[in-house]
Amino acid sequence: MSHPQSFAVFGHPISHSLSPHIHQAFAQQFGMALDYRTIDVAPEAWVDAVRHFFQEEGGRGANVTLPHKHAAFALADERTQAATRAGTANVLTRLADGRLAAHNTDGAAMVRDLTERHDLDLRGHDALLLGAGGAARAVAWSLFEAGVQTLTIVNRSPEAADALADAMGEPARVHTRYWEDLGNIGSFDLIVNATSAGTLDQSLSLPFSLIASRATCYDLGYAKAAFSFLAWARAAGARYAHDGLGMLVEQAADAFELWHGKRPDTESVYQLLKAQSV
Ligand code: ATR
Repeated sequence: MSHPQSFAVFGHPISHSLSPHIHQAFAQQFGMALDYRTIDVAPEAWVDAVRHFFQEEGGRGANVTLPHKHAAFALADERTQAATRAGTANVLTRLADGRLAAHNTDGAAMVRDLTERHDLDLRGHDALLLGAGGAARAVAWSLFEAGVQTLTIVNRSPEAADALADAMGEPARVHTRYWEDLGNIGSFDLIVNATSAGTLDQSLSLPFSLIASRATCYDLGYAKAAFSFLAWARAAGARYAHDGLGMLVEQAADAFELWHGKRPDTESVYQLLKAQSV
């Protein structure tokens, strides 16, 4: 008899996570019964909890959210290129031999959300990436590879922006600027907020001059975490202002496909969640 397979999302806190709803909705599309739980674990207990889940509880795959994405990357035995570039993982998969593989599907998910759901052709865009932490690193290469003309990375601490740009190694198209200079670096067609300010209940006080006509603004967070940035974007005249709800659903679909070998329909789940949010 095969061991029942379990799936989970690890975070701290985790009670408000939408991931269980998303994965259950995907499973329903295929008539599957799915054991998917939330595991709230503090950073100091993370390694033991993950080992227990995968070794003792039939764990087959896990989504990983704050504050464990770095730890998930560090713990894994194998890492995809996207995870290695980001230095973080949002998905762990148990391989047939019991070892753990780290994936980072956030960047691909964001680009799919922008290009397919929101119909944005990124080619030729001048893009501004705010932030250079784990979330920013997860999306930077994907934005670049989606064909933006230039990618300007601005971070409160300039060293992290420089480190990310150096790691990308594309000096002709990837630049860094100082946060203090945001008021005089011109305007952008796409502005991505990858800072954790919204999650921390802080606002960024960005200048309106960043917004080019027809600009799209995108926050990697959703719900309350994206509120302040998107309010700024609308006030500044952005043509489109999107939160990261679509990205959340897309990255879940990537995890689902990795684990179950089936591609779920994301649009119906996205529309349902969007209708439920304020
Ligand atoms: P995450 O995994 O969410 O990216 P992180 O790796 O801790 O979390 O990175 C947080 C990012 O948000 C960093 O780029 C951070 O800037 P610093 O490197 O200068 O700390 C940025 N950030 C957080 N709060 C911010 C604020 N109030 N204003 C500007 N940037 C902020």
